[in-house]
Amino acid sequence: MKVLDLGCGDGTTAIPEAKLGADVLGVDIAAYLVAAGNARAKELGLANCTFQEGDASYLAGLKDHTFDLVVSIFGAMFAPKPFDVAKEMVRVTKPGGRIVMGNWIPNDPTLVAQVLKISGAYSPPPPEGFISPMTWGVEANVIERFTGAGVPKENISFMRDTYTFANSAPPSALLNAFRSFYGPTMNAFEAADKNGKATDLHKELDALFNSQNKSASKDATSIPATFLRVTVKRH
Ligand SMILES: C[S@@+](CC[C@H](N)C(=O)[O-])C[C@H]1O[C@@H](n2cnc3c(N)ncnc32)[C@H](O)[C@@H]1O
Repeated sequence: MKVLDLGCGDGTTAIPEAKLGADVLGVDIAAYLVAAGNARAKELGLANCTFQEGDASYLAGLKDHTFDLVVSIFGAMFAPKPFDVAKEMVRVTKPGGRIVMGNWIPNDPTLVAQVLKISGAYSPPPPEGFISPMTWGVEANVIERFTGAGVPKENISFMRDTYTFANSAPPSALLNAFRSFYGPTMNAFEAADKNGKATDLHKELDALFNSQNKSASKDATSIPATFLRVTVKRH
């Protein structure tokens, strides 16, 4: 199976896909993650897994009808121009193939939607015309985007799924990882630092991470987060 993993990061899903035997191309806009993904694949001897830089809104160099499966887990939702993203995903998928997206859901009470909501409140207002990535977690928007790309509505299906953040360290360690490595949280701290609000932001997030922790031990983390799983059957 030929798989495109879009907004793949350093291979969280691309590497397991390749280990299962797929021929995987990971595409991400961040050069350092592409380099990290290629290093991981090389170290694991996965010749069937390569990573390259690219923008989900415009997949330059990728031919029509190339992939059996296009996967994007919390990836393409962050690209601008969502209608172009849907068109590009449909374009590069083979007829009869599938597109599967994992998208966070706006106003959901679980972790990531709340992190994004709190981070947004501390960040500068987005530029005019900006379309929130969270709109990819709304079924009506997803349908509009894929039907706009020519997919019949009945080929688009949805289910709620759960990603669990599990770690053998307390929730504060996960919060520190978000603070250091997660774009929306990094941006919020950068803005909050400038107007003396970083401590408030940290406190608010710390309370959130601890209140969501389902682990029996305070020294471990198990936080379930709900997302919308979108499956599109290519006509
Ligand atoms: C939350 S991470 C998810 C990474 C990976 N899919 C995973 O599950 O760990 C979002 C990724 O989307 C990438 N990204 C953001 N905008 C993008 C765009 N326009 N085109 C391609 N990738 C993009 C980021 O660089 C980042 O690696």
